[in-house]
Amino acid sequence: GTAGAAGAAGLVLGAGAGAGVYAAAGSESSSGAGALTSVGSTAVPFHGTHQAGITTPLQARGHLVAFDLAPGAGRKEAAALLRRWSAAARTMTAGKPSGDGDTGVALDAGPSSLTVTFGFGRTFFGRTGLNARRPAALDPLPDFSSDHLDPRRSNGDLWVQIGSDDALVAFHALRAIQREAGEAAGVRWQMNGFNRSPGATVRPMTARNLMGQIDGTGNPKPSEPDFDRRIFVPADGGEGPEWMAGGSYAVVRRIRMLLDDWEKLARGEQEKVIGRRKSDGAPLTGGTETTEPDLDRTGPDGKLVIPSNAHARISAPEQNGGAAMLRRPFSYHDGIGADGTPDAGLLFICWQADPLRGFVPVQRKLDRGDALSPFVRHEASGLFAVPGGARDGEYVGQRLLE
Ligand code: HEM
Repeated sequence: GTAGAAGAAGLVLGAGAGAGVYAAAGSESSSGAGALTSVGSTAVPFHGTHQAGITTPLQARGHLVAFDLAPGAGRKEAAALLRRWSAAARTMTAGKPSGDGDTGVALDAGPSSLTVTFGFGRTFFGRTGLNARRPAALDPLPDFSSDHLDPRRSNGDLWVQIGSDDALVAFHALRAIQREAGEAAGVRWQMNGFNRSPGATVRPMTARNLMGQIDGTGNPKPSEPDFDRRIFVPADGGEGPEWMAGGSYAVVRRIRMLLDDWEKLARGEQEKVIGRRKSDGAPLTGGTETTEPDLDRTGPDGKLVIPSNAHARISAPEQNGGAAMLRRPFSYHDGIGADGTPDAGLLFICWQADPLRGFVPVQRKLDRGDALSPFVRHEASGLFAVPGGARDGEYVGQRLLE
């Protein structure tokens, strides 16, 4: 059924995971007889303990957009904005028009796994007079030696992640969100991404990135007992503010891939950079994609089979005091530059209950000696507090803004 196919590897939802439960939904916006395909009819519920778009299987299309509040807009305007945005997201994710003046771009299509996820950046709290309720977890990320960050494409007061398995449905949602911002907020930056289309492979598989690697294997699984604790703020708010209960922190990095350099490497060299085989994602010490890597094994030459600077070795939670994050990226490609190099890479998005126990320690270690570093460049960065899901009749962020 739809649920099995949609629960593609890498982000498979365990039974009872509580979010992103799939249900075939009829689409009131589709016209004519006949049923939608499973891609079109798949709906991800807007309401829930957690916002959709975190444990939801990777979608084929994504838009990331950051807004800054308009000069003079404060808490009242922000609350009204989140109310409008939530209403639009609720109807669009059910496959219905966003409201009066709908552009019609998504007509005929079903929900197509649309998710719209909202977050707050550090600067939001000063602008709305809410600094006292700003989570410590939003303190700026440390500088990393390999950073090449463009501040104009980084951070922002508000962040919206849109994902859908249909490009038109995703674009429709992006325009509706922009329109609903009205006079309250303006776009700061916007990025477009993609993943493999559902059904492109004979069976659901972990996605590949633009370097050709199977990417997502080591992700924590919702079926693991410590998954919720690692990814989501506990129901009582934990050590942070209570309004973040059921929420998560998103670290967003635009990571350019230096593909001309990467593609010059022989396959064996590429595999040593990660520590896994390109063909099937298995560790270089053997087995299948899901076999545990043998990090201590040496080869006939006496060297470690998985080199000491291999990306998957350095980033593994066991090497980082258990630091874990859920990586849920989109690839991007924004054309080929005047110098002939593609502006392409990974819109790296990782989710965790606390960035200081997820992204930061791992990136610190990668920064000191990851074999992948010569082939990537971090060009933009954002850190956002993504509150828990809205209950029925509630809007996202209401517990902060009301
Ligand atoms: C693992 C690629 C950036 C954290 C992997 C794997 C690949 C990969 C191919 C092995 C398969 C897997 O477990 O998913 C990339 C590429 C990157 C990138 C191409 C940049 C363009 C990052 C960054 C972080 C990170 C910035 C965090 C700071 C991890 C983690 C694992 C991993 C935690 C899983 C390790 C494990 O549990 O075994 N990455 N990665 N990666 N990566 Fe990255």
